[in-house]
Amino acid sequence: MSVVTLTLNDELISANSDQSLLEVIREHDIYIPTLCHMEGLSERGGCRMCLVEVQGSRTLQAACVTEVAEGMVVTTHSERLRKYRRMTLELIFAERNHVCAVCVMNGHCELQAVAAIEGMDHVRFDYLHPDLPMDISHERFGLDHNRCILCTRCVRVCDEVEGAHTKDVLGRGINCRIINDLNQPWGSSQSCTSCGKCVEVCPTGALFRKGATVAEMVKRHDFLSWITSGREKNEWDYAGQAPYYATERRKE
Ligand code: FES
Repeated sequence: MSVVTLTLNDELISANSDQSLLEVIREHDIYIPTLCHMEGLSERGGCRMCLVEVQGSRTLQAACVTEVAEGMVVTTHSERLRKYRRMTLELIFAERNHVCAVCVMNGHCELQAVAAIEGMDHVRFDYLHPDLPMDISHERFGLDHNRCILCTRCVRVCDEVEGAHTKDVLGRGINCRIINDLNQPWGSSQSCTSCGKCVEVCPTGALFRKGATVAEMVKRHDFLSWITSGREKNEWDYAGQAPYYATERRKE
């Protein structure tokens, strides 16, 4: 790992060469919206909310999946970016049903919050709003495809943190759906551990705890950094209690 120098909003800064632009932007206390990004999970670069301008690049770049480079010149706020972010948000709202007034996450929803921050007060596109089914076959949780923005946080946390890989994405483009196992009712999944991590990381009301009514659901994200940093630091690997092969391995 080496140190690179780049220009961020006209200011010369340095960063580690393995950092993403988003990490560096946040380190400098600059706000740019994100939806699919979540600290502790791999990056997907799917929501396109974190787009930035990189001098010399023909297209806008998603900061979460762009690594810093020597001499880069980056702009995080401009009229062009504001228009693109707003249009992206409008397209998300037009695609599925995000009527906040009847959502369990009203007032606590990340999509709603980003729309408010970006000043998105109406949608210029025709609403598609397909009538998608809900899966309430699980005894504690529900999945409402109508609220899903396909950020895949649920898929990634289930695979990367819980290690169950119950959730996945079926289909392409507008037909994409979050599925459980081989597209079977969630309640009949044999791989699901019912840990609820997918529900907690979901930014909207697509995944919810049963029993919550309109505006009642608040999701907790703190468990994720606790688990991931605990694993990185081997906090639960007690040398005295670890089997001999674990201690041997550590010495290698
Ligand atoms: Fe970067 Fe979603 S946060 S594309």
